[in-house]
Amino acid sequence: MTDMPQDLLEQIKHFEEVFTVDKTKLKQVVDHFVKELEKGLSVEGGNIPMNVTWVMGFPDGNEKGTFLALDMGGTNLRVCEITLTDEKGGFDIIQSKYKMPEELKTGTAEELWEYTVDCVQQFIEYHHENQKLSQLPLGFTFSYPATQDYIDHGVLQRWTKGFDIDGVEGEDVVPPLEKCFKDRGLPIKVAALINDTTGTLIASSYTDSAMKIGCIFGTGVNAAYMEDAGSIPKLAHMNLPADMPIAINCEYGAFDNEHVVLPLTKYDHIIDRDSPRPGQQAFEKMTAGLYLGEIFRLALVDLLDSRPGLIFADQDHTLLRTPYLLDSSFPAAIEEDPYENLTETEDLVQQKLKIKATSAELELMRRLAELIGTRAARLSACGVAAICKKKNIDACHVGADGSVFTKYPHFKARGAQALREILDWAPTEQDKVTIHAAEDGSGVGAALIAALTLKRVRAGNLAGIRNAKEMQAFC
Ligand code: GLC
Repeated sequence: MTDMPQDLLEQIKHFEEVFTVDKTKLKQVVDHFVKELEKGLSVEGGNIPMNVTWVMGFPDGNEKGTFLALDMGGTNLRVCEITLTDEKGGFDIIQSKYKMPEELKTGTAEELWEYTVDCVQQFIEYHHENQKLSQLPLGFTFSYPATQDYIDHGVLQRWTKGFDIDGVEGEDVVPPLEKCFKDRGLPIKVAALINDTTGTLIASSYTDSAMKIGCIFGTGVNAAYMEDAGSIPKLAHMNLPADMPIAINCEYGAFDNEHVVLPLTKYDHIIDRDSPRPGQQAFEKMTAGLYLGEIFRLALVDLLDSRPGLIFADQDHTLLRTPYLLDSSFPAAIEEDPYENLTETEDLVQQKLKIKATSAELELMRRLAELIGTRAARLSACGVAAICKKKNIDACHVGADGSVFTKYPHFKARGAQALREILDWAPTEQDKVTIHAAEDGSGVGAALIAALTLKRVRAGNLAGIRNAKEMQAFC
């Protein structure tokens, strides 16, 4: 380190203490996590919803047909048309991406559905100009916690990822979407409503049979895996065969909302308090892309307030005091700065915050970014480890997607290291649970799930399908 003033060194040490999650803590988190996953499957339920998805089993690679997929994630809206081809595991895809306007996230339900259907209509008009279309089955990736009594049904439990649109929570989201399609004369029918994690699980297993878990490390965090009906007490009343596979969308961003085990800092408490849904998504708020830049910002603001003059003396702090000004690409870019003297970080801080930082301040920011990124990666590994422990999986592949996984520097290596510590692999052993970049879950996964659903309709296996009759039109 350069000549770092003693006070700043002490601050770095303090940040190291609050943000470091050691092996003992990781194991405690995972032990509690396993119990909470179980609880979510019980009749009484718990913090983690463990939503039943009615996706029953993996694809065999021979699925066929043309499907639309609509992906409503946290940041973008994407419309795809996917053809599952004759080649085993093969597909063709055309797609368009639309930015989700910020104001839509806190607007009205009507605006949300109208905008969504505008995008689908644009897509159809562009790709199928002057064609007379017959009914098109749609896989709708709606990546929020939803209660599904059927695969073509989904009652929003609560908004996550900063969304706060009135009149949607507690409602089935399929009918208003289908109504908008109908009003515009679009011949589209929702064949399946899916979560991005379930899509990731299914799309990844399409090409790799060792895939047992689908994860998203992005704006939000979550995972899905395949459970046996016999291990889902809350489904006991349905008398399904005990060995029948059903994908569970864990919604484990809600892990430890009670704050029993997570090593929360005062910054995590502020994020929670000032969020549209305090008391919810505790695990997500410490690990997901939506929050990493904000945690970083809050830690710096804390220094400004608790130790006036220690950092950024005689500079204008207005921008730094703007909530959510920094997204996770900010600490990510700092971690990526290849230069020892942190020249890129210096430019970035100047551009984004209008602050001219000293070398010592730049070093402090670099260390802070590393600590926040490392904590996120290590805690993220706990969810994967907990599913493996719960299912007695000794070795498997995990399909992962999301901006933090694909873009945040060192996230994968740090997560892998944490899995090694939690799952106690011998130093001579290779990693047994490995996380891989997933196939496109929200697009191809949604199409595959729609295809699997239609296959079930054809076979008369109608458990968890509401509109089987209407779906026969596609078969
Ligand atoms: C949030 C959503 C969840 C989604 C995850 C990743 O946790 O509630 O449904 O899977 O973000 O996008």
